[in-house]
Order: sequence, then C-alpha cells, then structure tokens
Amino acid sequence: MSTFHINSKKNDFSDIVLMPGDPVRAKYIAENYLNNFKQINKTRLMLAYTGYYKNKKISVMSHGIGIPSAALYVRELITEYNVKKIIRIGTCGAVRDDIKLRDIAIALGASTDSKFNRIRFNSHDYAAIADFNMAYNVFIASKKMNLKIHIGNFFTTDSFDTDSKMLSILNKYNIIGIDMETAGIYAVSSEFKVQSLSMCTVSDHISKKESVSSKDRESSFNDMIILSLETALLV
Ligand code: HPA
Repeated sequence: MSTFHINSKKNDFSDIVLMPGDPVRAKYIAENYLNNFKQINKTRLMLAYTGYYKNKKISVMSHGIGIPSAALYVRELITEYNVKKIIRIGTCGAVRDDIKLRDIAIALGASTDSKFNRIRFNSHDYAAIADFNMAYNVFIASKKMNLKIHIGNFFTTDSFDTDSKMLSILNKYNIIGIDMETAGIYAVSSEFKVQSLSMCTVSDHISKKESVSSKDRESSFNDMIILSLETALLV
C-alpha cells in the first residue's frame, strides 16, 4: 500500500516513530541504534526505517523542514499506518542566556507565528501542547540518564530568520527553543488523539550569535537519541 507521500506496507511501521527533520539523521539512528532494521520508505528521500531497541519495535522517519512538511507526514503515519506515538528529535535555536549550545530542550507547548493551526481551529489560538504522559516519561528518562534538560514553551516559526524585535519578545516570554515544526505536530496529533512529544538540541544561540559545528552537533544529538529511545520504552 502507499499513501500520497509514503510508500510502505501497512504493517511496516511500529506504533511509535522517532522523527528527526533530516533524512540523513534517520539513517544514522537506524544504523547506530536499531537492531535488525530495514528501510521502509524512500519516496522523496524521506527515509524511514523500522528496527528494534532493547527488543522494542521502533520506527524512525524524517519529517523535513517546516510545519507543512512535518504535519503531512505525521498525519499520514497516524491515519494510514496506525502510528500512535510520535517523538520529534530535532534542532532548535535558543534566546535565553541560561540555555546553552547543545543543551536539550523539551517542548511542553509551542507558540507559533504560523497560520496552520488557525486554519484548522476556526481562526482561534490553539494551545499546542505535548502529551503529558510523554512529557512525564522524558523527565523520568532524563533523571535516569543524569541528563540536564530544559522543559518549557517553544516558538514554532515559518521563517528561519527571526528579527531582533521578535527575539526580545521570545526572551521576555521565556521561550526555551525556536523551531519550525512543533506547534503543527502537536495540533495534528491532538486532532487524531495520538501522543506526541518534541525535543531538540540547541544548534544555534540566536542572541549570542553562536552555532554548533556539524561535528559537535553529532555528539549532542547522540544524547538526545538515547533520551528519545529510553522515553519510547516508558510510554
Ligand atoms: N530558528 C528556527 N528554527 C531552527 C533554528 C532557528 O534558529 N535553529 C534550528 N531550528
């Protein structure tokens, strides 16, 4: 069977899918963390794999950049492949002084400048939130791993470049991470009554004008991959 954007068989996916933005990351996770994995999608090179982590069947699939891309993959995974749990594992920008490059930020909720949720929510402001059970379990998993995490409100933007006025507003309102997908993923998950959680490593500190080299990105990403897999075992 295939859907508009995914060409996999009905039972190819686990009910839990880890979703990086980047297909190369999806391949990296399968090759380095999953046993007995197989590739289950390559349409548009939006790579997907299913394998086993500590005997639990887990899938990983990239969702691309931005709400429109992420939301359509999430929706098709839910409606056509019976996926029940989604963990986004991405990168984000930061503005707060106490949040450093490579830190892990968990989106308890996500504000947005995108119209995507308003289009679906009769022009009103939808409070896009993480699944509580998943948020609870990522906290437990982080304690077990002795890993410091930030938990709070994200800002999901349609424009990668954030101007200085908006940056000071984000700081004022205590935003911990800036990304381009979370608010949409949370709304679509809620619409279809499935659980989702978004976590990101900080790849750039926007106010300090700092960013992580691609090599360093990898090591901080590894902690987050393990955190997401350990969370997946608990939910
Ligand atoms: N802005 C938006 N999305 C991002 C950023 C950013 O600075 N960094 C990683 N994803």
